[in-house]
This record gives sequence, C-alpha cells and structure tokens, in this order.
Amino acid sequence: MTASRLLSLPAELSVIVPCYNEVSNVAPMVAALDAALEGRAWEVIFVDDNSPDGTADEVSRLARLDPRVRLVRRVGRRGLSSAVIEGILSSSAPLVAVMDGDLQHDESVLRTMLVELQNGAELVVASRHVEGGDSGGLAGRWRHLLSDAGIRAAQAVMPHPLSDPMSGFFAIRRDLFESLLPRLSGTGFKILLDLVMSAPKTVRIVEVPFVFRPRLAGESKLDVVVLLQFATMVLDKLTHGWLPTRFMAFALVGLIGVVVNVSVLDLAGACGLSFSWAQLAGTAVAILTNFLLNNRFTYHDRRLKGHKLWRGLAVFVAVCSLGAVANIGIARMMLDSAGHGHWDRSSAAGAVVGVVWNYAVSSTLVWR
Ligand code: GDD
Ligand code: MN
Repeated sequence: MTASRLLSLPAELSVIVPCYNEVSNVAPMVAALDAALEGRAWEVIFVDDNSPDGTADEVSRLARLDPRVRLVRRVGRRGLSSAVIEGILSSSAPLVAVMDGDLQHDESVLRTMLVELQNGAELVVASRHVEGGDSGGLAGRWRHLLSDAGIRAAQAVMPHPLSDPMSGFFAIRRDLFESLLPRLSGTGFKILLDLVMSAPKTVRIVEVPFVFRPRLAGESKLDVVVLLQFATMVLDKLTHGWLPTRFMAFALVGLIGVVVNVSVLDLAGACGLSFSWAQLAGTAVAILTNFLLNNRFTYHDRRLKGHKLWRGLAVFVAVCSLGAVANIGIARMMLDSAGHGHWDRSSAAGAVVGVVWNYAVSSTLVWR
C-alpha cells in the first residue's frame, strides 16, 4: 500500500509514549517509528506533563507535519502510570503499545509485538535481556541492585511469572486493557505490573527479548522516590488495600529513618561522640530525612515549598518529639504490665503507637 493511502486509514496500532523533558528525542522517535512500522497503519500519542524544556511544542510542531503524531499535554500533573493510562484512553486503535520516549526501547520490536498480538497473544512484554550503557559506574550499579530487588519482590506477588516485570515496553489488546482499567491504581510508574497483577490467570501473555539501549539525551527520572512508590504498591497488593497507601508510605519512610538513625549514630560514635550526643545527631538527621522524604513521596500531592517548608519542618519536629515520648511511654507501660521478659513486644507496641501518632497528626497538621 502506498504511504499516502496508509495515512488515510484508521490506525491499527496506537503507540503511547510518556515523556518528560525529552525535547531532543521526539523527532528521532517519530522517524524511528516511521521506519520500524513501514507499511502498517499506526499513530503515536506523546503524553507530556508540561515539561519545562518545550517537549510539547516540539510534538506540536511535528503533529502539524504528520497527522499520525498526536499530543496529550497535562498541566500540573506528574506520573508515568497515569500518563500511560490517559494516553491509551485518548486513542482508539484495537492494539496499543507503550514505550519510553528516550530511544532506549528498540522500536523494531514493535513489529514482532504486532505479529504476536495478531496471532492471539493479549499482552506482549518486551523483556530486557541485556542492560546497555549506564550499568557501569556507581549510580548504575546502585540502580541495578534496586531493580533486581524490585523484580524479585514483584515476582513473589505476581499471578503470572515475568522475567522483566518492571519493563516499560509492552503491547496490549485494547479490550483487555479496558477490562482491567477499573482495577488499575494509576499511581507510581509500574503500569505493566499493575496490569499483570490485575489480569486473570487465563490471559495469554508472551515475552519477547530486546536490548535496552543507553540513553543518548536527557536524563532518567526514575529515582529512589519512584522505587518507594513501587514498594508501596507491592505492599498495597499484598494487604489487598486494607491499609491506606499513604500510611504504608509513611511507615516505609519511617523504616528508612531507623536505618539513617543507626548509621549516623555509628558514624558519630566512631568519631568519638558520647552515646547521648551520637543518638541526638542520629535522631536529628533521621527526622530531617524523614521530613524531606515524606514531603517528596508520601505527600507528593501536597508538597510544601518555600516558607511553608520551614513551618512544616518545625511542626513535624514537634510532632515527632511527642511521638517519641508516646513511644517510650507505651513501651514502658507494656513492659511493666507484661513482665520484664518482653522487651521486643513492648518496644514494638511503642513503635506502632509512635508511627500511628506521627502519621495521624502530621497528615492533619503538617501536610494539610
Ligand atoms: N508524562 C510523563 N510523566 N512521562 C514521564 C514521567 C512523568 O512523570 N516520568 C518519566 N517519564 C517518561 C520519560 O520521559 C521516559 O520517556 C519514560 O517515561 C521512562 O522514564 P526514564 O526516566 O527514561 O526511565 P528509565 O530509563 O530510568 O527506566 C527504565 O527502566 C524502568 C525499569 O527499571 C524504563 O524502561 C522504564 O519504563 C522501566 O520501568
Ligand atoms: Mn529511560
């Protein structure tokens, strides 16, 4: 079929590309799709969260030249999963593919995915068998470790075993997506995991291998905060939504606080500080990191900035201090009534009361 004839056909495949600060990757991306999907009727939907680098303007510019290019621009919002979901919902081809907008996903795999879908697969996942480029260096190794831990945690709770459950590169039949839609959480970045977790056992999933390319332009947006969101999502699935997600996020940050506290205590001790001073330093650093992490992650939608950040910190310190008093008080009471053999149980009870107190009060006083 000639190219001009294809342009007037409705798309058989909608390619959804979430992007944030990817201005220099947009044009190469469209060119890559054009080459990879030659002879097929396709469209691409870039979902941009109003990137400051002008990604949306660049997509608009290309859309004026090529009717297969479309833009969804979201203002005042962030998030990979919700971007993908809204991109899919803005399109209507019977088959949908999701891929990153930084050229790290090999577009030639799209053709294989299309064939698999047309041969009866309902979901096709591109699985990274090789990691490219950024796996050197300390940051790369750290990410690798986190990613491996994430994969193992995910495999433990998934109804369908996948070799790369964190993949951001997959294709799905629209009817399957729509049937799973009401159960998607839409938060964080693990859209595939969310889909697979909600999919019934009978769904036909196929994995195809691909080589993850190094990033040429721009930078990765998936940092520790995003990984925390992922851990929260796994916990949420495990507890079947019984505990509020925000509370789990808060508790998870609290756990990190304990690690920070003990590390700083050890360090200060090694520098010759007395136990009390070392513990004070550890607690202070832990409270500060907890505050900042909660602000970035637990309450990212109510994030404090400027002078409100300082006011919030002051209130948070006060709340946590009272929480510590409650923690110690409850533990002491438990120890007195349960008998002195029960240190662990008493201490745990104190910690739980402390966390619940800190959570309840800071979500009403600090992050209103
Ligand atoms: N609209 C929107 N909003 N897009 C976003 C956002 C957001 O808040 N955050 C990231 N993106 C876009 C990026 O612009 C990119 O196109 C894609 O989502 C993936 O983000 P990267 O920042 O490039 O992720 P990565 O390369 O570090 O992570 C890779 O590995 C993950 C698993 O470890 C990707 O392949 C992910 O898809 C994958 O889940
Ligand atoms: Mn990337």
